[in-house]
Amino acid sequence: MAKDKTQYVCSECGGTSPKWLGKCPSCGAWNTLVEQAPAAAGGPAQNRFGNTFAALGGASELAVLAEIEATDVARTPTGLEELDRVLGGGIVPGGVTLIGGDPGIGKSTLLLQAADALQNAGQIALYVTGEESGAQVALRAHRLGLERSQVQLMAEIQLEKILATLDAHRPAIAIIDSIQTVYSDQLTSAPGSVAQVRECAAHLTRFAKASGTAVVLVGHVTKEGALAGPRVLEHMVDTVLYFEGDTHSSFRLVRAIKNRFGAVNEIGVFAMTERGLRGVANPSAIFLSQHAQPVPGSVVLVTLEGTRPMLVEIQALVDDGGPSPRRLSVGLERDRLAMLLAVLHRHAGVASMDQDVFVNAVGGVRITEPAADLAVMLAISSSLRGKALPKGFVAFGEVGLAGEVRPAPRGQERLREAAKLGFSVALVPKANAPKKPIEGLTIHAVDRVDEAMAVVRQLD
Ligand code: TYD
Ligand code: MG
Repeated sequence: MAKDKTQYVCSECGGTSPKWLGKCPSCGAWNTLVEQAPAAAGGPAQNRFGNTFAALGGASELAVLAEIEATDVARTPTGLEELDRVLGGGIVPGGVTLIGGDPGIGKSTLLLQAADALQNAGQIALYVTGEESGAQVALRAHRLGLERSQVQLMAEIQLEKILATLDAHRPAIAIIDSIQTVYSDQLTSAPGSVAQVRECAAHLTRFAKASGTAVVLVGHVTKEGALAGPRVLEHMVDTVLYFEGDTHSSFRLVRAIKNRFGAVNEIGVFAMTERGLRGVANPSAIFLSQHAQPVPGSVVLVTLEGTRPMLVEIQALVDDGGPSPRRLSVGLERDRLAMLLAVLHRHAGVASMDQDVFVNAVGGVRITEPAADLAVMLAISSSLRGKALPKGFVAFGEVGLAGEVRPAPRGQERLREAAKLGFSVALVPKANAPKKPIEGLTIHAVDRVDEAMAVVRQLD
C-alpha cells in the first residue's frame, strides 16, 4: 500500500529521508523528521523537478489590487452572542477554525450548542465525533435540553470517510471533535501524531476552501499548553480560539489568538451551568473575589480584554522561603514576575530575595498584557508589608526595567469601568491620568515605581 511511499521531512530544513531517523541527514537537527503523505501519483504538484513549468499547470491570471472589489466576508451568526464576538461576527463560509483547550473545559458542549443554534437557523450542521459515541453525544444533548436537535451526527475517525461524507452532504458547518482522533490511511503514524494531525487538518482545510463549508477543528492541549502537533495547525487555519478558565470555577473564557476575519484578543465569556454554557454579557466584575474587608496581598487590576475592560483580582503571597525561594505564578507570566521582583528591589528598595513569592489571577483567567505589572507589584509589596490596600482600590500600568511606569492602552475606558463598578481610588501611569476628573474616583498618577510605593504608603 501507500506504506513504502511516505517520506520523512525535516521540519527545520525541509530535507527528506525515506525512513525515520533521529537526526536529520541534511541539517543535523534532532527529532525533526515528520512523516508526510505522498502526493497523489502523477499530480503536477509533486513533479517539481525535471518538469517544465508549463507542464506544472500553466500560468495564472494576475489582478491589480486596486481593481479587486473589497467585499467583506459573509458571516453566519452562530446564535451564541459571546462566541460570535470572538469569531468577529459569526462563522465564515470556507473558514477553518481551530478551538483548543484543556479536556473537560467545555469545547464539545459549546460546539454542540452552536451546531444546534445554526441548525435551527436553517443551516445544515454536521458534528463528527471521534472521541465519544453517538449515544454519549445524545446524552450531552439531553443535558443541554437539545433532545430534539436536528444536528447531523457522524461517529467516524477515518479522514477519507469523513471527507466523502462531507462532500456528499455539503453542510454549512462541520465540526470535527477532535482533530487528534482523526487518521488518514495514507500515513502509518498513529492518530494524534504530528504527521497525522497536520495531514488531516490540511485535507479538511482544502475541503473547506473548495466547498465553502465552514470547518471547526477541536484540538487538545498538551500539558505544556501547546496544541498537540506543536503549533502546526495554527498557521494552517483562519481562526484560532482558546478556551481558558479554571475547571473548578464556572467561568470560561474563549479567546481569539488569531483571526483572519476579525480582531484578535477579543474574548467571549461564558458560565458553565447545569444546562451548558451561557454567555455572560457583562463580565467586568466576575473575576473579583469577595472580601468583606481589604486583605494584604490583594489588588484589583483593570485589564482590557479585546474591546472590554475587566476587573481581575491579583493576589500575591510573600513568605519566608528556604535556601532557594520559589517564584510561582498562576495566570501570569513567570518570567515577568521575576523581572518585576528585580525592578521592585532595584528601583523601590523592596527586597524579596529570601522570600517565596506566589501570585495568582483570580478565577483562572490568564493575563498576558504588561499593563498588569503595576498591580502585581503592588500586590507583592502589600503582602510583604502585611498591609492591605484601601477599600475600592484599583491599579494598572506597565513597568519598565528602568523603574518607569508606562501608560496602558485606553486608560480612560479602564478608569470609567472601575468607577462604574464603585471603585474609588486608582493608581495609574501619569500618561493615563484623565484631563477631566472622573466622578467618584480619586486618581494617583505616577511616573516611577518608587513614586507608586510612596503613594501606597501614604494610603496606609
Ligand atoms: P465538554 O464539553 O465535554 O469538554 P471538552 O469537550 O472540552 O473536553 O465539557 C465537559 C464538562 O462540562 C464536564 O465536566 C461536565 C460539564 N458540563 C456541565 O457542567 N453542564 C452541562 O450542561 C454539560 C453538557 C457539561
Ligand atoms: Mg470533548
